[in-house]
Amino acid sequence: MNRKALGGVLVVLVVVAFLAIFLPVYLTQGNDAVTPPPEKLTPDQQFYKDVKDEERFDCYPDLDVTPSKKLCEERGCFWKPATLAKAPECFYPLTYGYQMTRLPVNTDLGWEAYLSRLDGVPSRYGNDVMNLKVEVEFQTDSRLHFKITDADSPRFEVPLVIDKPNKQPSDPMYEVSYKSNPFSIQVRRKSTGVLIFDSSVGGLTYEDQFLQLSTKLPSKYVYGFGEHNHQRFLHDVDYKTWTMFSRDVAPVDEWNLYGHHPYHMCIEERGNNAHSILFLNSNAMDVTLQPSPALTYRTIGGVLDFYIFLGPTPENLVTQYTEAVGRPAMPPYWALGFQLSRWNYNSLDRVKQVVKEMRDAEIPMDVLYGDIDYMDRYMDFTVDETNYGTQNLSDFVDDLHARGQRYIIILDHCIGKEVGYEAYDTGLTQDIFIKTPEGQVLEGEVWPAVNASVYPDFTDPSATPWWTSLCDSFHDEIAYDALWIDMNEPSNFVAGSQTGCEENTINNPPYLPNILGRIMPDGKRGLYDKTICMDAKQHLGNHYNLHSLYGHSMSVATHEALKTVFPTKRSMVLSRSTYVGSGAYTGHWLGDNQSQWRQMPWSIVGMLEFSLFGFTYTGSDICGFWYATTYEMCLRWSQVGAFYPFARNHNGRDWPAQHPAAFDDAFSANAKKVLEIRYKLLPFLYTLFYEATTTGTTVARPILHEFPETLGMNLDRQFLWGASFLITPVLEEGKTTVEAYIPNARWYDYYDSPGKEVDPSLRGTTAVLDADLMTINLHIRGGFVIPFQEPANTTVYSRVNPMGLIVALDENESASGQLFWDDGESRDSLAKEEYVLTEFSVEKASGMGTLQITPSITNYATTLAFETIHVMGLKSVPTTAMANGVPIQSQNFQFDDDKKMLTLTGLDLGIINSHTVQWEE
Ligand code: NOJ
Repeated sequence: MNRKALGGVLVVLVVVAFLAIFLPVYLTQGNDAVTPPPEKLTPDQQFYKDVKDEERFDCYPDLDVTPSKKLCEERGCFWKPATLAKAPECFYPLTYGYQMTRLPVNTDLGWEAYLSRLDGVPSRYGNDVMNLKVEVEFQTDSRLHFKITDADSPRFEVPLVIDKPNKQPSDPMYEVSYKSNPFSIQVRRKSTGVLIFDSSVGGLTYEDQFLQLSTKLPSKYVYGFGEHNHQRFLHDVDYKTWTMFSRDVAPVDEWNLYGHHPYHMCIEERGNNAHSILFLNSNAMDVTLQPSPALTYRTIGGVLDFYIFLGPTPENLVTQYTEAVGRPAMPPYWALGFQLSRWNYNSLDRVKQVVKEMRDAEIPMDVLYGDIDYMDRYMDFTVDETNYGTQNLSDFVDDLHARGQRYIIILDHCIGKEVGYEAYDTGLTQDIFIKTPEGQVLEGEVWPAVNASVYPDFTDPSATPWWTSLCDSFHDEIAYDALWIDMNEPSNFVAGSQTGCEENTINNPPYLPNILGRIMPDGKRGLYDKTICMDAKQHLGNHYNLHSLYGHSMSVATHEALKTVFPTKRSMVLSRSTYVGSGAYTGHWLGDNQSQWRQMPWSIVGMLEFSLFGFTYTGSDICGFWYATTYEMCLRWSQVGAFYPFARNHNGRDWPAQHPAAFDDAFSANAKKVLEIRYKLLPFLYTLFYEATTTGTTVARPILHEFPETLGMNLDRQFLWGASFLITPVLEEGKTTVEAYIPNARWYDYYDSPGKEVDPSLRGTTAVLDADLMTINLHIRGGFVIPFQEPANTTVYSRVNPMGLIVALDENESASGQLFWDDGESRDSLAKEEYVLTEFSVEKASGMGTLQITPSITNYATTLAFETIHVMGLKSVPTTAMANGVPIQSQNFQFDDDKKMLTLTGLDLGIINSHTVQWEE
């Protein structure tokens, strides 16, 4: 082959080889391979392209504007149609917010950093805070605190003091990290790696009247936030907004109600661990849950201040939360008795008649209330001389006391404007009323039948001595036992004041959370519907910031006042409006509910939520406040209400009587039966209150807290007292059975004093139980010892009756429990340790069951004794029993073979002594 031919062959070979190599590549890549590669997307462009509907964070929550692409982009946000119905079309890019200006520096408890607002993010409502300070504090092993404030000038902060240590915890359950640009913070549970807080979703906004922060949630199991009429304990995360701002309104719909509790619990799916988050902010706010799942806080003032609690159990959370915000107040023993109230008894004669009917029917009752109709023209610290009469009312209260009963009076927050009326005159002289911006006393209208009402400023330190002096001198006239404080949202029947409110951004902020009344009847938009103007002046600043703290500040002042009124005795406060930490000063009833069947289950939800918020003394108006109840509804409500920690039947104005003796003999017998069970169990209930006030555990407890495997079942139609007593009420009309979830444990029917073991095959299932009209299902959990005392018509008499123990054995035939006992009312019996604390423990060894009764504190002298002991769940027939080594006579030894229950009677085991009780099987 000549060189030319060889060259030709080589060319052909090269071409063939080239084609062989590159043609397939060309063919598989298609034409794109020859077009220039796409520009690399910025993270935000990528986000815009990929974002799932449920992961969008709403950039246009404003309720009065329909967002458009143009409006949205003016805010620096993305616009994209969504397929998911409730997903926002206008949503935040990732690069929206602030960036760190230099590396964080260490502090004693953690670190701090400074942020500046990102360039190019448009102002939203103006007054942007350009520079922020972030403080992160590792406060305890289970509590993290972080706060974002204006780096250049102070802003309003909630005046709640949460003690912090002076050094970091040794082994925190969490770790904290951050991203610097845009700034975000992440909190991770160390043991599982679960991210429990992560604000890297964008949208951090910090303007004078609009602050927003969003976080991813580790699961959709979210509980809490309040106060609302939540119909279920477990929240719906399908774009649900809960607005918080104290408000006087009957809990009919899901609006913001009396209290303000920006606190929730979340159960993490991995590991079933629970954490909770307090957003310590008192301004009107929205909290929006969304399905990704995630949460957005949107508030119109204050600072971004968060406390995260790590549990890991739900009960641990309540303990940790109340350690921070205050342990629940300890009520006197009598306050656990049944209570009766109505608005508009209208005369002392009528009151006497009702009390007589209750006595004649022998229905236990400890407390009677005086609602505003005892007052002269609805003015605090006065008595209607025509229908009540100071002397007559005073004599009546003395008579109640003589019969072992108590009287609680209502006090409203408002003071009638009338010269010559002491509360008004002294308040004026002492300058404690809330003022207008011009410095005049702000005048509104509430109950007082005079031409205006004025508002004490309980944030002013001089208001407490003023209030104390009034409470104290009125007690000299009417010897009330405790105070019920009402309308303290604070309510006002005219919007803002008698002369309205000025148009300004405090009264009419640019962003209005979804509060009830935001559009007032006259079409104005504002925050002051049914309350006072937001620019009203209080000692601690504008009402704008302090509004939701009004009830709290009044609760604290009233709690203080009662220390003067009762220097040695424990009293109690019952407040309608509450804030974070109020549980340390007051109980709470769930407000003006309605006599409707559907409100009964809601009362359980409300009570359980307040348990999360650190309140023990809670319940709703038994039989409903508004509207006429029915026989069956009131009967069923009396059954569930007998197990509210705070058990009060309260009726509204002008509705038919609904006290338990108002119906027929069968009704009275029913009420008597269920209240006698309550009274019998009061030593147990009182011990739960003691545990709560000392360690922060709950009294009314969700099943979820004891049985984590029920996560997702939303068991909020039943509840527990402590860990061991299950209450399953009938909550529907016409039913004589009830669906009861039987948590996975050994259970015993309470009835037949007490009763039979629940069929073990039902554990972990929902069983249909009989529940005739006379019955509320009650079960005792194996493994627990429950102290009891024979009931009486008031606690004064029940407290001297014989005591006993219900020993409910678990599978290993062991059990434990305790009893707290003091005189029931000394103010400082706890501080001075003037009480008896006795531990019970039961073990079985070598065929012998042994109950040890071991008092650890015996500083209260009492001759009370355990006289009866029931031991339930024995696996074989006991032959003999001994108490402190002495054989128990056969007449005091009974074994019920059907129930497998041993009952020992005729014992005399003093509650302040150690004892050993044994039975041989
Ligand atoms: C509103 C309270 O919520 C209610 O319980 C009371 O009866 C009325 N105010 C009248 O005082």
